Amino acid sequence: MQITVQHGDILRAPADLAVLVTFEATPLPAEVAALLEAADYSGRFRQTTLLYPRNAVAPRRLLLIGLGTLAAVTPDALRQVAAIAAQRARELGVATFTISPQVGLALPPAVVAQAFAEGLALGAYSYNRYRTELSSEQTFTVAGATIFSADVAETLRGVATGQTVARAVAFARDLANGPGNVITPAALGQAALELGQRSALRVTVLEKPQLTEQGFGGILAVGQGSANEPRFIVIEHGAQAAGQPTLCLVGKGVTFDTGGISIKPADKMDEMKMDMGGAAAVFGAMQAVAELGLPLHIVGIVCAAENMPSATAYRPGDIITTLSGKTIEVLNTDAEGRIVLADGLFYAQRYEPAAIIDLATLTGAIMVALGAHATGLMGTSQPLADRLVQAGEATGERVWQLPLWDEYRDSMKSEIADLKNAGTRHGGAINAAGFLAAFVGDYPWCHLDIAGTAWVDHPLKAYQTHGATGVGVRLLVAFLQAYV
Ligand code: BES
Ligand code: MN
Ligand code: ZN
Repeated sequence: MQITVQHGDILRAPADLAVLVTFEATPLPAEVAALLEAADYSGRFRQTTLLYPRNAVAPRRLLLIGLGTLAAVTPDALRQVAAIAAQRARELGVATFTISPQVGLALPPAVVAQAFAEGLALGAYSYNRYRTELSSEQTFTVAGATIFSADVAETLRGVATGQTVARAVAFARDLANGPGNVITPAALGQAALELGQRSALRVTVLEKPQLTEQGFGGILAVGQGSANEPRFIVIEHGAQAAGQPTLCLVGKGVTFDTGGISIKPADKMDEMKMDMGGAAAVFGAMQAVAELGLPLHIVGIVCAAENMPSATAYRPGDIITTLSGKTIEVLNTDAEGRIVLADGLFYAQRYEPAAIIDLATLTGAIMVALGAHATGLMGTSQPLADRLVQAGEATGERVWQLPLWDEYRDSMKSEIADLKNAGTRHGGAINAAGFLAAFVGDYPWCHLDIAGTAWVDHPLKAYQTHGATGVGVRLLVAFLQAYV
């Protein structure tokens, strides 16, 4: 969707559809109030009313969308109403529309514009790659939207950022929605190389012989049961600029998680194609930081493997030696994410980073704890955790911290190896983090468990659609922008 910006009054500009985003308990413009029964529309959050003004104002159709009370408006609310606008425009079959908030909004124009641009683009997102028969509504795309604003320059700036971020989210969603037979570890490697080409990022993809030679025992063990060989992927932004802090983003890239020999139940196993949602977030974030030209050294690291049961699969009881030299007793082959991350987190230490952040669809336990409304955070650096929680508030990709006391790490010690990969069910998400902590040395580190937030059967927000959410991309970009 092309987004343009215009100065002036949205009610005076001819359009097939104008979307006026209004506040509860704030009077509507008189010419709009005259078009409806006051009792029918209060402007409460997400309420909509479609009006046909018949020349009372310039637009042919006028869609009112409520934001709730002025004081309570957040960027996420703007993102949601913009998504609703894009969806209604598609339903109505209008090629272009205009949109504006009612006057009085106190948020900075660039913030409003970024949220609008993200909502418009993501509201129009749908994953149609494998549909060969599309209805006319599915093939119809809204070509453009014009945002009306009193500050054109700032609005243009926000739109540009929002479009970059939305493209990155769509990229992550496309990867995570991709089926396991297509999005293999090799395909992730290929996607990284293509990303490097188009965004001028330095990309290294290690294949199985190199992983063997260099001792990536964790990734190799998880991947050994699959005909789709594992990959280790490094995507680097800003390596040439000296003196900037280095931040490592590590993503779990399990392209399909059957559970392995400790096989999962059949019900909903198909959704385990999204077990590379952490990797997808890293891909998206790397694309965005490159496009935004952030003055930071950012290293994206993806541990890609497929977890299959087979004659060559790793088994419960196996003891594996990871890249770090630390050994892991495998008690459950379904706790594979922490094993691949062990290598990726240890690898990150070579950059002597100011921070390591990993993103992983790691545990069902985080869904038990937080449901679908927050990503779980555990880590070793409170200032880093605070920054991520802050980014979560700013983006609506909410993050909630859980404790990581020493006892949780101790619970992952093995009787016969350095660590075991599964502890008790109780506190399962934190036990997993306690395991990961063994591989980050003394570097400031936070782990984001996105198992509950990476996928939605039914959208929780208007800018989501069934399937992958691309969670983590907007969070990381906001975190990194604030880090500069
Ligand atoms: N990929 C799963 C976690 C998951 C579950 C992600 C549901 C998204 C939705 C992970 O590899 C896993 O299987 N974890 C196990 C760990 C257990 C065996 C210690 C779990 O959470 O049950
Ligand atoms: Mn698993
Ligand atoms: Zn998994």
